[in-house]
Amino acid sequence: MPKIQRLTAREILDSRGRPTVSATCTLESGVSASASVPSGASTGRAEARELRDGDPDRYRGLGCRKAAQSVNLDLNAALAGVGLPDAIEAAQSQLDQAMIALDSTPDKSRLGANAILAVSVAFARTNALDQRMPLYGYFAQLVRREPDYLPRLTVNLFSGGKHAGGQVPIQDVLLIPQSAASIDSALAATYEVYQTAAELILRRYGMRLLRADEGGLAPPCKTAAEMIALAVESIEEAGFVPGKDIALGVDVAASHFYRDERYELGKQPLDSRAMIDRLGNWLQDYPIISVEDGLAEDDWQHWPGLRSAIGDKALVVGDDLLCTNPDRIRRAVETGACNALLLKVNQVGTLTEAARALEMARAAGWAVSLSVRSGETEDDWAADLAVGWGADQFKNGSITQSERLAKYNRLLFIEEQNRWAVRAWPRTSKRA
Ligand code: PGA
Ligand code: ZN
Repeated sequence: MPKIQRLTAREILDSRGRPTVSATCTLESGVSASASVPSGASTGRAEARELRDGDPDRYRGLGCRKAAQSVNLDLNAALAGVGLPDAIEAAQSQLDQAMIALDSTPDKSRLGANAILAVSVAFARTNALDQRMPLYGYFAQLVRREPDYLPRLTVNLFSGGKHAGGQVPIQDVLLIPQSAASIDSALAATYEVYQTAAELILRRYGMRLLRADEGGLAPPCKTAAEMIALAVESIEEAGFVPGKDIALGVDVAASHFYRDERYELGKQPLDSRAMIDRLGNWLQDYPIISVEDGLAEDDWQHWPGLRSAIGDKALVVGDDLLCTNPDRIRRAVETGACNALLLKVNQVGTLTEAARALEMARAAGWAVSLSVRSGETEDDWAADLAVGWGADQFKNGSITQSERLAKYNRLLFIEEQNRWAVRAWPRTSKRA
């Protein structure tokens, strides 16, 4: 029976130099492991709340000392010495439920979702180590599956919106290597396109390599369509066939340019129907097979229209709309709002609740994209989670910066160990 001996935590810095939380779990068996949690910038309003210090004189209020104290004091006092069941799923769920009960708020704002998730994952890693299991195998057991494939990569090529200078309103243009049957060849192909795109940007805009929050390039395009066209050109110039070898995804992140029921995508604000038409046109003009947050998180009424307009050609992915939140996923399933879940564990705050979100999406026949955040750390547990939970896509930012590379490199290791193929693509659900 795993018994927690001690929980500790500390403030560390994420890839943007902002504080986040790292927690360490020590079991009575003597096994100990740590995990750190990421943080978003383009956050949905229904996300669980991180606890931040709010001291304007330190990290502009973003300090995480209070969150660390939630672990060192509250969670350690409540959970140290408590025996948990041997069965992995039962142990994880008992721990997570105890933290949810102790926090006692609907959005984890008392102890902090950052504190709670750090402990949830640190316990998973420690228990996996104690049971001599690879972390992806432990995660797979949590959702009662046997891992047998690797996720398809969706790699950030260009950034706009909140992750760059806002030069275009949309947030990401992503490369989706389609013909690559391995992570290894998908990364090699991505590298070619990334380098070609950097050269093209230098030629056309006279702009040297400047990277956005997730390591993507941020060319000074005038419109979103220009940025998407530039991605197609980069694929071609790198020697690949767009839509065959490498397709595109977009994270429109539309909540962030939605004002007064209008989408401020260009000079002329668009109403929801015009926005859906615009996305439909992009799908006709460019090889786009995944559209995330094509409409705003509050525009529930028009999401079913978006799905019927483009859902047979592309994944209609909900990020800010769903916030990995079971109640919001239920509503989206009932109304036919999407056909894919963007799963970010820190949006909901525990592995157990995220597993519930995964199960709901799968039960509805949806695809699942496991995503990291724009503020990441060098921790690589998200790669294990994507494999263990059988994600169709893995959204991990670009192929530069070590907080991204830690996860890609972990996937390369898992691939070497297991030789599983990458998920076949495309996979869209036509079920209502
Ligand atoms: P975030 O953005 O991590 O800054 O919230 C990622 C996304 O919108 O997918
Ligand atoms: Zn998003």
